[in-house]
Amino acid sequence: MDKIVVTGNGALNGQVPIAGAKNACLTLMPATLLSDEPLTLTNAPRLSDIKTMITLLQSLGAEAQLLQDGKVIALASHDVNNLTAHYDIVRKMRASILVLGPLLARYGQAVVSLPGGCAIGARPVDLHLKALEAMGAEMELREGYVHAKAPGGLKGGVLEFPFVSVGATENALMAATLAKGTTVLKNAAREPEIVDLARCLRKMGAQIEGEGTGTLTIEGVDRLHGATHPVVADRIELGTYMLAPAICGGEIELLGGRRELIGVFCDKLDEAGIEVTETRDGLNVRRRSNAVHSVNVTTEPFPGFPTDLQAQMMAALCTAEGVSVLEETIFENRFMHAPELMRMGANIDVHGGIAKVTGVARLKGAPVMATDLRASVSLILAGLAAEGDTVVSRVYHLDRGYEQVEDKLSALGAKIERISE
Ligand code: UD1
Repeated sequence: MDKIVVTGNGALNGQVPIAGAKNACLTLMPATLLSDEPLTLTNAPRLSDIKTMITLLQSLGAEAQLLQDGKVIALASHDVNNLTAHYDIVRKMRASILVLGPLLARYGQAVVSLPGGCAIGARPVDLHLKALEAMGAEMELREGYVHAKAPGGLKGGVLEFPFVSVGATENALMAATLAKGTTVLKNAAREPEIVDLARCLRKMGAQIEGEGTGTLTIEGVDRLHGATHPVVADRIELGTYMLAPAICGGEIELLGGRRELIGVFCDKLDEAGIEVTETRDGLNVRRRSNAVHSVNVTTEPFPGFPTDLQAQMMAALCTAEGVSVLEETIFENRFMHAPELMRMGANIDVHGGIAKVTGVARLKGAPVMATDLRASVSLILAGLAAEGDTVVSRVYHLDRGYEQVEDKLSALGAKIERISE
């Protein structure tokens, strides 16, 4: 298993190109199942999760191919011959559940393994199933699989989600494009990835209104056609690199970054003493003074502070002046990076969903273990500013969601090396 060694090496300066969003790409790819014409995605990120989705789509009989060094994904679903998403693949990646809505909408049936537990909490899929039931699907759970049927096709309906779920909104939105009549999804997720999905579906001929608001209205159509769509920039990768100058000092330009993808996060950086300015090609970030100030953060659905940036923000606050309080409201077990940061000398107190971080002058390098995707990059960020070497193991988590992280950080002047064992 690979390890990454990071050695604190002072300020970081330069430019970082931001890749296409993993989470947008993972929902755009299953949209191919809604049409028998080709769907081409450009600006795709080169990540292991994308390869897992390709394997899943291929297992259903869809054509899925990486072109141009992985930056383009060519998809076509004219020959789908298997309507079962097997546990072997689904257990690797929870986003696999996103094939359920499209398969059901186009073929009237689907069998999808339940994703099972996950390191950052229980993460059930009940809202996905309820949304599809509201469109007339019959669901049965047998031997760890969801058996879904809609013999007469899905029908539009009105559904109010009890709380915001990104994945359930995506599944319901895709299914509703081919349902008969009008579907109204209330308390829908408003994340930029949903907006990107709606835009792509509209290019494919879907009739959708309200993306980016809490209510989505979808008028079902008989068929969708092919399209070419560029994947939106990855706001989580963007936010992660924006924290590098906060932690190490220096000045970084994030190419392709846009403030509207990440508004509240920019406000929090401002409060912490980090200046974010818009440039012609993206966003420029630098620390206003030597020290970062403590800030309080509560994770919330978009447009609130993203849970996927909580671990990285915690890493930055470990050496801030004063006490910061981070509240995690989306996932119940998402502070696993805290004990690892404490191995590096951080002063963190976790009680339930609240972590109190008291800034220390400097972190010290240590062997640490990545426990999930965002935790892994938070340890790398912490290591960039620590004294000595930080050895991060289990970096396969990192490869699921960060494209060429060593190259991108090295180009900024970081001392970072991958060791393959
Ligand atoms: C997506 C993102 C993930 C991000 C999360 C929240 C992808 C591939 N992943 O995950 O990176 O951290 O949004 O921004 O896009 N829940 C239920 N029942 C359900 C569905 C969700 O109880 O049927 C709960 C979850 O356990 C969680 C909360 O709802 O506590 C929000 O989860 P959700 O928005 O669905 O996250 P994902 O779509 O899985």
